[in-house]
Amino acid sequence: MRVQDRGVGIPRKQLKRIFRRFYRVQTRGFKQVKGTGLGLYIVRSIAHAHGGRVFAQSEGEGRGATFTLELPRLAS
Ligand SMILES: Nc1ncnc2c1ncn2[C@@H]1O[C@H](COP(=O)(O)OP(=O)(O)O)[C@@H](O)[C@H]1O
Ligand SMILES: [Mg+2]
Repeated sequence: MRVQDRGVGIPRKQLKRIFRRFYRVQTRGFKQVKGTGLGLYIVRSIAHAHGGRVFAQSEGEGRGATFTLELPRLAS
């Protein structure tokens, strides 16, 4: 499953870090955007529990982001 947006994008260096617990990218004005930094950590935990994976791609700041969730057809 793939979800794509045309939002603020994600700097290349942060593409893996955003899945850490409580991690939030500290771009200008990020404190005005509510969040806990838990959402993607939970997504990754559930993906792993099912033998799957999730990753983010982005061309960079201001260029949107794409999240891909892969799950196996059969649990091993
Ligand atoms: N679609 C997105 N576009 C740009 N940055 C994102 C997107 N989704 C998540 N992020 C970045 O990853 C961080 C972690 O996301 P998440 O775990 O969902 O926590 P939260 O949304 O509560 O901050 C966000 O704070 C933000 O910096
Ligand atoms: Mg979120």
